[in-house]
Amino acid sequence: LSFTAVIPAAGIGQRMACDYPKQYLPINGQAMLSHSARLFIEHPAIERVVIALHPQDHWFAGLQIANHSKISTVIGGEQRVDSVLAALDVIDSTHWVLVHDAARPCLVKDDLDKLIARAELNQCAILASPVRDTMKCAMANHVIDHTVDRSRLWHAMTPQSFPCDKLRRVLRDALIGGVNVTDEASAMEWAGETVHLVVGRQDNLKVTHPEDLALAEFILARQKR
Ligand code: CTP
Ligand code: MG
Repeated sequence: LSFTAVIPAAGIGQRMACDYPKQYLPINGQAMLSHSARLFIEHPAIERVVIALHPQDHWFAGLQIANHSKISTVIGGEQRVDSVLAALDVIDSTHWVLVHDAARPCLVKDDLDKLIARAELNQCAILASPVRDTMKCAMANHVIDHTVDRSRLWHAMTPQSFPCDKLRRVLRDALIGGVNVTDEASAMEWAGETVHLVVGRQDNLKVTHPEDLALAEFILARQKR
């Protein structure tokens, strides 16, 4: 199989409330996006890395990875799914695609390898981790309605891995069908496709709020390279 990584990095990081997009915040001396892309650039099974950038991106060209031969860029769209679709447009239909958020800098190679192994078995798969907190369903006024059985609940993470042609078709159909496509798997579920959950490290966190940054720094500093 041939693999291409897609990294949606066209968001503005509104919840991070910083002067510039969170994917360019420095973590231990390197931009978050450089951390998120590094494993894919270094992995021998991955032929290309396509990064979706905001139309007004001022920062990517300044990164060391910008000139790497595996990397190409596309202009992203309004929503994350639009950015992913823009990247899929420039990818060979026969490739498997691994979609990974620029905002997840702490992925480890073992977890990436698990998804590649699933693809070799022709399985669509995403990294995920079982929820540990007690889960509440609430009403609009934040009063608890009931406790949800968490035994079947998982946190969906990235990477998420699918054949390029299938992913492109299903994402487009789901958008036309009015689905709220917050990750690739949500479109696949809607289309009735089988998607496997692969248990990944819980510390593959998505940096969303300011307080997540110190955590990501700590996690990355402890990872053995
Ligand atoms: N993303 C993208 N194109 C968009 C929106 C988001 O490529 N139109 C990317 C982000 O850059 C990020 C990933 O999708 O790497 C996950 O999205 P999220 O964590 O929500 O990032 P932002 O949308 O930038 O943050 P916020 O929602 O707080 O504005
Ligand atoms: Mg967002």
